[in-house]
Amino acid sequence: MNDSRLSAPWWKTGVIYQIYPRSFQDSNGDGIGDLAGITARLDYLAWLGVDALWLSPIYESPMADFGYDVSDFTAIDPIFGTMDDFDALVREAHARGLKVVMDFVPNHTSNLHPWFLESRAARTSPKRDWYIWVDPTPDDDPPNNWIAYFGGPTWTLDEKTGQYYLHNFLPEQPDLNYRTEAVKHAVWNDLRFWLERGVDGFRIDVVDRMMKDPLLRDNPPNPDYVQGRDNPTRAFLRVYSERYDGIHDLIKEFQRVIKAYENRVSIGEIQYFDDPHQIAPYYGDYESDELDLPFNFGLMLQHWAARTVRQFVTAYDAAIPPHGFPNYVLGNHDQHRLASRLGWEQARVAAMLLLTLRGTPFIYNGEELGMENVTIPQHQVKDPQGKNLPGFTRDVARTPMQWSNAPYAGFSTVEPWLPLANNYETVNVEAERAKPDSILTLYHRLLGYRRRTPALSLGSYRPLLEADDHCFVYLRETTDQRRLIALNFSGEAQTLALPDVTESNMGQLILSTLLDREEQVDLHTLHLRPNEGVIVEV
Ligand code: GLC
Repeated sequence: MNDSRLSAPWWKTGVIYQIYPRSFQDSNGDGIGDLAGITARLDYLAWLGVDALWLSPIYESPMADFGYDVSDFTAIDPIFGTMDDFDALVREAHARGLKVVMDFVPNHTSNLHPWFLESRAARTSPKRDWYIWVDPTPDDDPPNNWIAYFGGPTWTLDEKTGQYYLHNFLPEQPDLNYRTEAVKHAVWNDLRFWLERGVDGFRIDVVDRMMKDPLLRDNPPNPDYVQGRDNPTRAFLRVYSERYDGIHDLIKEFQRVIKAYENRVSIGEIQYFDDPHQIAPYYGDYESDELDLPFNFGLMLQHWAARTVRQFVTAYDAAIPPHGFPNYVLGNHDQHRLASRLGWEQARVAAMLLLTLRGTPFIYNGEELGMENVTIPQHQVKDPQGKNLPGFTRDVARTPMQWSNAPYAGFSTVEPWLPLANNYETVNVEAERAKPDSILTLYHRLLGYRRRTPALSLGSYRPLLEADDHCFVYLRETTDQRRLIALNFSGEAQTLALPDVTESNMGQLILSTLLDREEQVDLHTLHLRPNEGVIVEV
């Protein structure tokens, strides 16, 4: 390991694995995953070779949005276990060298959070201005045209006090008002509760939505919106309902709370921007000024072709300010499964891409098995987005983790809360660990290789063959290490004539996505099989 890797913060060299706790491992036979279940599976994560786990929310919650509606930010929901279970998970994770990152949901609370109950009690409540309350128009309508992410207006009328309250998501998720100082103090205190308990950082939910236009102006229509094709909540551009002036100052305050503790990371969920220049400002003006890692969802938005992905990566890499560090995401609990989007052959190419780019990689649980979307009949849909907007359920990617071919895939001893994939008898951890050419073996090999190769975590990124339509080829380099990555995005064999990168033009192919060759290769005629990616030491 060279010096730079030793001195770089863990979240620049590490790989972060997202756990959706409801679906990871059930330990108490209720069909829902829990903290003790996660602890029981830590050895798997250590073997896999990731460095940190991020837990989707486990706070006390009425579960209207499965934990993204929090009724107490300092309590564990009994469905997931107890505070002792949480402490045990952190202790056991740390003992294995794994960091623990929590999801934090500051934009809104549950409508059953004591703050909201108090706020809603009367117009004169001392906490009335902790949320955003507005009088109806003279026609008794909501104050503007804002649409909630899960459908319907962002406004719900409280009959008792005769005012509307704002919610960017469900009516059960009222938005906090960050123009009220006391709200910030209360939220920062809840953050400190977990920092004191030893968590290694936060993934901050919809962090850029915390500031809205105080004049509550109408959002303009979205010119790209196609009715019938697009999610109907995209009909307007969210110009006034989020990311409003003051958002960067607020994120800075947030960051100062976290950075008062050593070695913690802040990861922020911002818009799904396909223009990298819109991501850059969330790094702030100097190192650690705003978010350490503002999420980059660009790889999920690009048409999956060598040219478009290369162009995006190159533009994004260049757009990151010198004091910032990039990151890449290929899947999460809100999106369709990677293998369903790209097919299982390209899912391997995507894995090699993710784990060889310059930027902290995020892996969503189950992607390493090649888990696919599970079709959920409408009457079994649990996700509020899928209930309100049929066809847009996120349940498809939230089904139970497939551990083995045992009943219920080893996830539980009873029928799980969401249906299991039909293919779990072959697509599961136990079967794939035993198979030398499985996608799980590929992830394991890639993770191990990345960990011992500083060029892959901290090296520079340089694209080659920039006009090629089928392959994406790049170098990752430190002063004393150089790796070439060549990814065939096409279903046909390709032969690449690479420019001179070594004196002899020979390199050592160290890993193929097909896991069946390690050999000397001539870089003037580098052969790639259909859908093959390779790492070459040069
Ligand atoms: C984020 C979460 C999503 C949740 C929403 C509201 O986008 O990823 O799952 O529903 O915020 O909290």
